Amino acid sequence: MSRVLSAKPRVLVVYYSFSGQTIGLLHKLADGLRFRGVEVAMERLRPVQAMRFPVGTLGSTLRMMLATCFRPRVAIEPLSAESRGRFDLVVLAGPTWSYNPSGPVLAFLDRDGERMLAGRKVLPFISCRGYWRWHWFGLRGKLRACHADIANLMVFTHPQPEPWRTIGVFLKIAGKAPERSPLLKKWYSRFGHGRDQQEEAWRFGLGLGQALLRGDDLAALDFRTPTAQP
Ligand SMILES: Cc1cc2nc3c(=O)[nH]c(=O)nc-3n(C[C@H](O)[C@H](O)[C@H](O)COP(=O)(O)O)c2cc1C
Repeated sequence: MSRVLSAKPRVLVVYYSFSGQTIGLLHKLADGLRFRGVEVAMERLRPVQAMRFPVGTLGSTLRMMLATCFRPRVAIEPLSAESRGRFDLVVLAGPTWSYNPSGPVLAFLDRDGERMLAGRKVLPFISCRGYWRWHWFGLRGKLRACHADIANLMVFTHPQPEPWRTIGVFLKIAGKAPERSPLLKKWYSRFGHGRDQQEEAWRFGLGLGQALLRGDDLAALDFRTPTAQP
């Protein structure tokens, strides 16, 4: 049963993005929500020690990938006062790091998760190269431990075929540009999410916005993408 809400729905997007992929999609999602008349506040998780992208060398990329297997927390600055307002939904977004949520998102969950998410509707949003299930299982466990009400799930994977998307991510993080390399550009035309996926994020924003306006059950919405079928 739908019910029309009297106040304008408000969505808080808490996010971390290292190489710009998550935020690119979130801008589109937020545009779709705003188009429906939903208020959207963006809250970026800011590491206390800025993390440099690209990291610079293949060696430091490999070290980062190995280190993130152990889920190190990346200390973050306090959140803004705005994030303490009334919100109908929190979107918690970020990339997969070695099969896990990223360090800043883990630090957020440890420090602020219970206080900010308990009893609230939360929509996890994952951007990754291709493998997101372990990330999702771990994140879901942490959200449950924070007593969050998990509303649904959005996952976007890079659309390039393997092995090029893995090679592409590795090179890109190291600071190389495979899409400009004479050897690789034939197989790797673009890094990360494509324009179709940005359109998709916009459509998801429209659908989510409409559901929030009507008070519909968010779990009934279909956010499956062609590249990341559950
Ligand atoms: C340290 C590190 C580890 C990563 N590990 C994974 C992984 O295990 N699985 C995966 O699908 N993508 C992995 N990725 C790729 C990112 O999840 C992907 O490029 C994502 O789109 C980046 O989003 P962002 O630009 O918002 O940070 C990793 C990236 C980094 C930097």
